Amino acid sequence: MKKLLITGASGFLGWNLCSIASNYFKVSAISNRNFFNLPSISVRKCDITDYQQLKVLMISEKPDAVIHLAAASDPNYCQTHPEETFKINVTASSNIAGLCSDLKAACVFTSSDQVFDGKSPPYKENDDTNPLNIYGQQKRTAEQQMRSRYENVTICRMPLMYGKAPQWAKSFIQPWIGQLQKGNTLSLFTDEFRSPLCASDACRGLLLALEKPGEIFHLGGPQRISRYEMGMILLETTGFPQTLIKPCKQQDVPMAAPRPSDVSLDISKASKMGFCPGTMREKLKTILDLQNTDTDF
Ligand SMILES: NC(=O)c1ccc[n+]([C@@H]2O[C@H](COP(=O)([O-])OP(=O)(O)OC[C@H]3O[C@@H](n4cnc5c(N)ncnc54)[C@H](OP(=O)(O)O)[C@@H]3O)[C@@H](O)[C@H]2O)c1
Repeated sequence: MKKLLITGASGFLGWNLCSIASNYFKVSAISNRNFFNLPSISVRKCDITDYQQLKVLMISEKPDAVIHLAAASDPNYCQTHPEETFKINVTASSNIAGLCSDLKAACVFTSSDQVFDGKSPPYKENDDTNPLNIYGQQKRTAEQQMRSRYENVTICRMPLMYGKAPQWAKSFIQPWIGQLQKGNTLSLFTDEFRSPLCASDACRGLLLALEKPGEIFHLGGPQRISRYEMGMILLETTGFPQTLIKPCKQQDVPMAAPRPSDVSLDISKASKMGFCPGTMREKLKTILDLQNTDTDF
């Protein structure tokens, strides 16, 4: 079995990827503050901003492939802590690309739909980037620096994602469900559009992308929908009362990071390599059926 190293393995997406990828690879996982155990996966702690630590780990692991997920992934935090998050999102990413080049390992990087300004969706891989917030700028700089260190880096621009999560990480639906369980009303934007993707589909897309060195892929979900519509689908599949979601506009909720209004992604290129994500309604239903109507996911 080939060896796959996953950074950010303790995060929401990484935790999902570890269990799916272990069916196909011998997986080594890197966590930082959150240590965890999964059967048949070796987990090592490493702060990827410490270059010596990272280098020793990667040389000792000698992976055939790396999927680099680790990031400061909250746009508001990046906006208020630009220097600290640059070290994680840009410098460490660039170093990982350099080490992958030395080791001749395949390398997939998770960038973001936030590299676009939201003015001309749906976005194709070759469309001009123009990030509105610091997180998006850092992801764009990381894409550029990684590709200049190692031309074989595969860039996957990810949309808003949801799915099962461990206790210590979350996707956007866990806080929503937490509020609904308390009977609290959610105010959701009718004027912010995304192409949401289930984590299990994201993981399959990332594993397909490993076979395509040097390419860029948009791994969006199949639908362009507003946050308000996402909330209504969540209510429909979980059975919470419709009255618990109220429409609002982006301008009603002040946030540190400016948000593009529509960064839905065109996934026709990824579809050609076999990427075939399900709709939010289908995927939420599957997750809930699997969990026997237990909403604690
Ligand atoms: N979730 C989304 O909707 C979304 C959308 C677009 C793009 N993305 C991108 O997809 C990737 C995965 O996102 P996610 O939602 O799974 O993120 P997440 O839940 O916030 O997890 C971030 C991961 O990065 C690790 N990390 C952070 N700083 C580190 C450091 N200095 N050294 C080593 N590890 C460090 C964390 O480790 P510890 O927890 O152990 O500290 C954690 O495993 C990220 O690149 C993100 O930017 C996500």
